[in-house]
Amino acid sequence: MIVSRDEGACPSALPVSDGAGRAGDDRVGSGISGWLRRWGRGARPPRSWWSHVEMGPPDPILGVTEAFKRDTNAKKMNLGVGAYRDDNGKPYVLNSVRKAEAQIAAKKMDKEYLPIAGLAEFNKASAELALGDTNEVIKSGRYVTVQTISGTGSLRVGGNFLQRFFKYSHDVYLPKPSWGNHTPIFRDAGMQLHAYRYYDPKTCGFDFAGALDDISKIPEQSVVLFHACAHNPTGVDPRPEQWKELAAVVKKRNLFTFFDMAYQGFASGDITRDSWAVRHFIEQGINIVLSQSYAKNMGLYGERVGAFSVICKDVDEAKRVESQLKILIRPMYSNPPINGARIASTILMSPDLRKEWLEEVKGMADRIIDMRNQLVANLKKEGSSHNWQHITDQIGMFCYTGLKPEQVERLTKEFSIYMTKDGRISMAGVTSGNVGYLAHAIHQVSK
Ligand code: LMR
Repeated sequence: MIVSRDEGACPSALPVSDGAGRAGDDRVGSGISGWLRRWGRGARPPRSWWSHVEMGPPDPILGVTEAFKRDTNAKKMNLGVGAYRDDNGKPYVLNSVRKAEAQIAAKKMDKEYLPIAGLAEFNKASAELALGDTNEVIKSGRYVTVQTISGTGSLRVGGNFLQRFFKYSHDVYLPKPSWGNHTPIFRDAGMQLHAYRYYDPKTCGFDFAGALDDISKIPEQSVVLFHACAHNPTGVDPRPEQWKELAAVVKKRNLFTFFDMAYQGFASGDITRDSWAVRHFIEQGINIVLSQSYAKNMGLYGERVGAFSVICKDVDEAKRVESQLKILIRPMYSNPPINGARIASTILMSPDLRKEWLEEVKGMADRIIDMRNQLVANLKKEGSSHNWQHITDQIGMFCYTGLKPEQVERLTKEFSIYMTKDGRISMAGVTSGNVGYLAHAIHQVSK
């Protein structure tokens, strides 16, 4: 119930619980007599507990969807949030997911709590997916993986873990720019945020020299975060030779590496290729932490399925780390949800479903690549003389168009095309049916 200041707070609408009793508790009384006992005759009760709370801004990414929903234009496009759509613009539930759900339903399993660390087979399969099942880390068992509430929950568990146990530094270096939620996640976990150069607006590509230069100056033993593949928001990834040099600098500076891998499979369509950087760092002896999400690559957005892994020196260290992760998770959300982890592990562990899933991941990645090509072709058809090559050079779900905030505003106001203010578009929302309209609109605001 919302009681505004101006409505005047009637006694029965005032909050009465101060720890001594609850609303309706006779010992305190929630009616007029209880109120008089608590505040006394003539005393002025506060009109509201929350009058000082200011209206916050909408979320820079999810707020775009709210604005999109209010628009009545039949041609409207939501290119804000990164959520895959099929070529009819409809949310896409993978066949492998539908089949896994049917298998799970047929088993009529119970709904008991999961352990604090989540579903054991899901955790194992997730680590194997990221690292490869023949990886020395997997074979030796010198790692711990806990199930988390998708990628965001994983990053937050990771942030809190670093805040509590990474005794060397609380400084986290993010690429500039980075996913909009990285900053509040690590800030709210009590870490201090810094940035290293990453994106070059002149080339709409990777500023390799700038990144290398900045990272080589980060104080030793600080935390550096990398997007493992399909960088969000820019769609710009280092090439393998560049990753090699980045790993060498990280090692030389004795930096601690946090990998965020929210798009494994989504960049190239190949899950092994997309985890190349993670595996390379580990091969170089760098004991990373890793966040994974199944939101995009399995389309399990609302199921909230993710994992957080810590690569340790040995099995004993991994056990100690696991015990502390559990202590950290228990007061946050007790234990993770069961359904999505069952779906993901059923797919990962069944050879048939896994094969089908890998084909579906490739299908999604390929459709996005096709839309990039079609967008550039349509821009040319419109007569645009700009160089749009970055649209096809960039990879993954997003395209960092290079459009200025005023141009983005015009796209929204004049064409009902919704996107984040930084000029990022979710290529997953582009279809063969609307790519022409998008190209026309982009040309109109950029010519
Ligand atoms: C995005 O960047 O659009 C996605 O990762 C969704 C989100 O939660 O921000």
